[in-house]
Amino acid sequence: MRKKIVAGNWKMHTTPDEGLTLARQVMETAHANEHREVIFFAPFVHLTTLQKEVSVSPFFSVGAQNCSNHEKGAFTGEVAAFMLRSIDVSWVLVGHSERRQYYHENHTILKQKVDQALSQQLLVMFCCGETLDQRMEGNFREVIRKQLEESLFHLDATQMNQVAIAYEPVWAIGTGQTATPDQAQEVHAFIRELIKQKYGDGVAARVRIVYGGSVKPDNAKDLFNKPDIDGGLVGGASLNALDFVTIIHAAE
Ligand code: PGA
Repeated sequence: MRKKIVAGNWKMHTTPDEGLTLARQVMETAHANEHREVIFFAPFVHLTTLQKEVSVSPFFSVGAQNCSNHEKGAFTGEVAAFMLRSIDVSWVLVGHSERRQYYHENHTILKQKVDQALSQQLLVMFCCGETLDQRMEGNFREVIRKQLEESLFHLDATQMNQVAIAYEPVWAIGTGQTATPDQAQEVHAFIRELIKQKYGDGVAARVRIVYGGSVKPDNAKDLFNKPDIDGGLVGGASLNALDFVTIIHAAE
C-alpha cells in the first residue's frame, strides 16, 4: 500500500513566526496516521526553525520550494541542495508551474535540479501538468509525457524511488476550478503507465502521484479516494490550519 502524502505549498506567504504557528496548529489538530505523511513546503527563511519544530513527529516533514540547479559557487541569491541537506530538510519541490512560468525553468534546468537534490539525498516532489490551452488542444498527455521524459526519466530505478510526482493542471492552480476526480484519475493512471513502461511494475506501483490544483476541504476526499491519486499538493487551503487538517484527514 502506498503511503498517502498531503503537502502544503505555502508559496510566498507567512513570516517564519506565522509559519511556525500554522505548523503547530496543524500538528496539534491532525490525527496521527501511519498510512499518510504531511509535508510543509515553506519559504527558505523558515526552514531551519520549522525543521527543528517538525522533526519531533514521524508523520510530518519539511520541504523547500526550490533549489539551485548548480552544486555551489557564484550564483547570487540561490540556495544549493547541500545547504538544505545540512539543515535536515527532507524534500524539495521541483518544477512547479509558477517556477516554469515566471522563472523560465525549462526541462534542462529542472533535470539539473532533480540531480542536485538527489545527489544530496533529498526527496523530490516533481510537478507536471498542462495549461488550459494545452488541455483544450487535446495534446496534454504529450505535454506531461515530455515533462517527465525530459527531466525525470534519465534517473535509474533506485533514484526514481526517491521521487514523488505532483500532477498539477495549471488551469486548476489558484483558480478554484478543480479537475474532477475522474479527470485527475485519468491523468494519474496515464502517468503511472508511463512509469511502468520505463521502470517496470515495481517502481510504478510504489511511486506516489499526488494531485494539486484547488484542493479544498470539500473536494479532497473524492479526489483522494481515486485509486491512482495518492494525496494532494495544496496551495491556498494549506494556509488555513483547519482547512488543511480537514484535507489531511481526507487522506485515509
Ligand atoms: P492551489 O495551489 O491549491 O492554491 O490551487 C496548488 C499549488 O500550486 O501547488
